[in-house]
Amino acid sequence: MSTVRTDSRLPWGHRYLMVEPDHFRVDYSINPFMHLDDQPDPGRTRRQWLAIIAAIEAAGGSVEVLQQLPGAPDMVYAMNLGLALERPEGAPDQGHVVLSHMRYDERRMETPAAADWFTERGSTRQVIGQGGVGAHFEAGDAFAWRGELIVGYGPRTEELALKHLATELGVGVRGFRITHPGMYHMDLGFCPLDETRAMVCPAAYDEASAGALLDLVPEALVLSEDEAMTFCANSIVLGRTVVMPACPDRVRTQLEEWGFEVVVVDVGEFLKGGGAIRCLTNPLDVQLGRDLASVPGGRVTLP
Ligand code: ARG
Repeated sequence: MSTVRTDSRLPWGHRYLMVEPDHFRVDYSINPFMHLDDQPDPGRTRRQWLAIIAAIEAAGGSVEVLQQLPGAPDMVYAMNLGLALERPEGAPDQGHVVLSHMRYDERRMETPAAADWFTERGSTRQVIGQGGVGAHFEAGDAFAWRGELIVGYGPRTEELALKHLATELGVGVRGFRITHPGMYHMDLGFCPLDETRAMVCPAAYDEASAGALLDLVPEALVLSEDEAMTFCANSIVLGRTVVMPACPDRVRTQLEEWGFEVVVVDVGEFLKGGGAIRCLTNPLDVQLGRDLASVPGGRVTLP
C-alpha cells in the first residue's frame, strides 16, 4: 500500500511521552557533559520541563507523563526509554515498543518502568539484548525518516542491533557510525525537519557515514561542530514548528527561509545531564507501514 502525500510535513511528532523530573540529578558521568560538581536546580528544572510541555501544546501537540523512579536520575531523558511505534489502524495490538538496552548499567533500571508503562497502554514489547547481554540499543539513536529507520551506532547503540531492528521489525534500517564523543546519540548530530529536509552535523560521524548521510538528505542544513554543540539538532518538530534548546542565527535564518517557526526553550538544567529537547521527549505517533515501510525479512544498509 502506498500513500501519496501532498504535504512535506512529518506526519508524526505530535504526541509525546515525557518523564516528570522529580529525581533529576547528575549522579555519575556517562557522557562528556555530566559533571558531578554541577548539579541541576530542582525549581529551574521543573520550570524548564513545564516550558517544553507548554511549547508542545502551543504547537498543537500533547504530552503523556510517566513518573520518574527515585533511583534513576537520567530517566528524564524519555527518548531513551524505547522506540515507540503505532500499528496501522485496525491492527489487533495498539502499539509496539522496542525497549532500549542501555549501554551503561547506570540506566538499565529505567527499562522495566518503561516496559510497564507501554504494556499498560496495550503495546507489545520487544527487547534487543537485556541486562548487558546482547547488543545495546538506545532509542535516542533511532529516527523513522523517509520510510526507513535511521540509526546511529557506535557510542551507545551497537552495530549488531541494526540487524535485530531490521529483521524483527521487518523494516529497512540505515546505519551511520558516530565517532564524535560529544554527539554520542544520533539526535545530537541529526534532526529530520520534514520529508526532504534535515539538520546534519557531518563532524558527528566517520567520513563514510557523513558522506552517506549527506547523500541521503535531499536538502540538508549542514551544521558545524560548534553549532551542533549548542544542541540545536536536539530539537523536535511539530508540523512547521521546531522546538529547540538553542538556535544559532545562521540556523534560524535557514529554518525561517524554509517556512519553519523556531521556538527556543531554555533547558540549561538538562544540558547538565547531556540532553536537551529531543532527549526529554519521546514521540508516540510514529506509525509502522506509514512512517516505516514494510520490508519482509528486513534490510540493513551501511555506508
Ligand atoms: N545522561 C543521559 C545519557 O548519557 C543523557 C541522554 C541524552 N539523550 C539523548 N536522546 N541524546 O544517557
